[in-house]
Amino acid sequence: MINAQLLQLVIDASNDGIVVAEQEGDDHILIYANPAFERLTGYCNDEILYRDCRFLQGDDREQPGLAIIRQAVKDRRPCRQIIRNYRKDGSLFWNELSITPLFNDADQLTYYIGIQKDVTEQVQAQQRVEQLEVQLAGLQAELALLRAQP
Ligand SMILES: Cc1cc2nc3c(=O)[nH]c(=O)nc-3n(C[C@H](O)[C@H](O)[C@H](O)COP(=O)(O)O)c2cc1C
Repeated sequence: MINAQLLQLVIDASNDGIVVAEQEGDDHILIYANPAFERLTGYCNDEILYRDCRFLQGDDREQPGLAIIRQAVKDRRPCRQIIRNYRKDGSLFWNELSITPLFNDADQLTYYIGIQKDVTEQVQAQQRVEQLEVQLAGLQAELALLRAQP
């Protein structure tokens, strides 16, 4: 079994955000955030502990992924969604968020683990591909029209 000190080193060295939250009423408040989460979001531990992570969404709350996360958390099921989040300086990043509920031996829900991966580059590349596909379809339609002319 890996010892607690080594486990701490591993979590501290992770490139992805790792947080632990516990339920408090309707909120899931952070009780731990690793250094990668601080780097990703621009917030330090003092500013985020005991808060629900939804503050990272700012006013951008109408996202389909959030309804899926909300339901999964309520049902105590794991989930993974890509959502828009905002750093302390207001800049946008796409967060591939994975949430896993943690149960003890008595099958009681104890904590939630959250892993945050910055997938901004991948999402922007995908968006660019979609834009280019639309442009290409337009050009192909124009070309077909030109070819059809006598
Ligand atoms: C462990 C854990 C980590 C979370 N991390 C994030 C996060 O990084 N960014 C985010 O926008 N929401 C995060 N959430 C989701 C929000 O806390 C909340 O569940 C979501 O906004 C949907 O619920 P709401 O509509 O009540 O806000 C996390 C939730 C849990 C349980």
